[in-house]
Amino acid sequence: MSQSSAPLGPADLLVQSLSRLPRLVKIHQPNHKIFVENLELTRTVLQTLWAENDKVELRLHRGRLYLNQARLNFAPILQVTAAKLMEFFEERGFYGFTFTPKADLSTNDIVEFVRAINACQGQAEPGAFLLKSLQRAWVSPILEDNFKITYAFSDESGESAGRPLVWNANPSAEGQRARKAYSRALAELTKLNAAISSTKGLVNFAKSRRVVQDMAESLFRDENILLSLSTIRDYDDYTCSHCVNVALLSMCLGRRLGLGKMEVATLGLGGLFHDLGKVDIPIELIRKPGKFTDLEYEEVKKHPLNSVCRILSLNADHAFKSKLLLPPFEHHLNINLSGYPESSRRVPVSLFGRIVAITDLYDALTSSRSYRPVPISPEKALEIMINKSGVEIDSLLLKVFINMVGVYPVGTLLLLDTREIVIVRDTPANSEAGRPWVYILEKADNDTIRKGELVDLSQKRADGGFVRNILHCFHPTEFGLSPTDILL
Ligand SMILES: [Fe+2]
Ligand SMILES: [Fe+2]
Repeated sequence: MSQSSAPLGPADLLVQSLSRLPRLVKIHQPNHKIFVENLELTRTVLQTLWAENDKVELRLHRGRLYLNQARLNFAPILQVTAAKLMEFFEERGFYGFTFTPKADLSTNDIVEFVRAINACQGQAEPGAFLLKSLQRAWVSPILEDNFKITYAFSDESGESAGRPLVWNANPSAEGQRARKAYSRALAELTKLNAAISSTKGLVNFAKSRRVVQDMAESLFRDENILLSLSTIRDYDDYTCSHCVNVALLSMCLGRRLGLGKMEVATLGLGGLFHDLGKVDIPIELIRKPGKFTDLEYEEVKKHPLNSVCRILSLNADHAFKSKLLLPPFEHHLNINLSGYPESSRRVPVSLFGRIVAITDLYDALTSSRSYRPVPISPEKALEIMINKSGVEIDSLLLKVFINMVGVYPVGTLLLLDTREIVIVRDTPANSEAGRPWVYILEKADNDTIRKGELVDLSQKRADGGFVRNILHCFHPTEFGLSPTDILL
């Protein structure tokens, strides 16, 4: 990703201060020049933010930082700082801070606050300890991840209206674990991208390995959770969420093919790193709306080979790294070798390469991109893939994939002839004509959307006809919905 030299805004500076001050307070006297400068900066930043907001909430939510309702996107130079601050919050079991305006905020107030953050480390319940020891009117820790994001929900007539969607308040323990693993995978990949763009030496990726292993563990307990997670779409950070989704879908497909846990985890890492070489392509090119020129396309076509080079620069033994190289190298090669990188090598594409080619294409088609704001519905995406079957992608693996995601993949929205809008939960193996189990979506009193009754679409009436029929299939983002929020 290309470096950006845009000046840091107040939110960036707040994040930077919060990650610096706990260290500075430990090593410097309160009157030390650097410490004083940072305290002054924090005070000014808070006052600037308070001038525009009743209160300021800096919050960690699913591996991202939010300032009030706005998700923060960081310039490459700040990405590692932001990831470290998130780790700092996570380790202490809190989700950020609420800062309430205080007209006479002094640098001493800030010193006390930072000392309290440091003191909570090592406590049995750091969050609760911090809450008790802070007791300041102007700052309090956020101890629960009960964040509500405002989604735009388009109604049937196509008019958009901003309506809040309630975060599922009671996710299952497994769902929570998997969500955390997803957030960690995103954060690790972001850090890794920043590290490999800025370092010449070997880059550590032990945490990414661990996160993928955790995901493999989750998968062997409950496949459906990982499939639901793979419906997360992050428009602002397309490349990273795409890579995590490709890792998830590849692992699910690998498991369906009977691979063991270790192999599934290796495949997952290969999927996670398949587009690692995109760090070498200017971000403007990756986000370019419209078609590439011939020259630009030549540049984009370098990314599989770049990914291989980038993986080789990771800190691990060569035998292990060599296992990760094929999916990145082969994912655009096509099984008839008509794709890229062009090579005189006429060796068939490996199993892992074939798997990642399928999951990569599926995720790319069903995501909104700068040149295609409305994503293709899962049903249509599978149809496009069937047309490439046997030529560009492996037909047998595609069959297993379609079987896995179902004709109506997890998280797809369906409009029924009963005028109900439903979301697909899963499709049991013995279901008639691939008819899934779905939740009926309902509007709650506070104008939010929630999942209602669970129904089986293969249910029949006494005359043999189906109780409910599918009229139309939508990608959830067309409705501004995130299926994970509803399903998990
Ligand atoms: Fe790619
Ligand atoms: Fe990709």
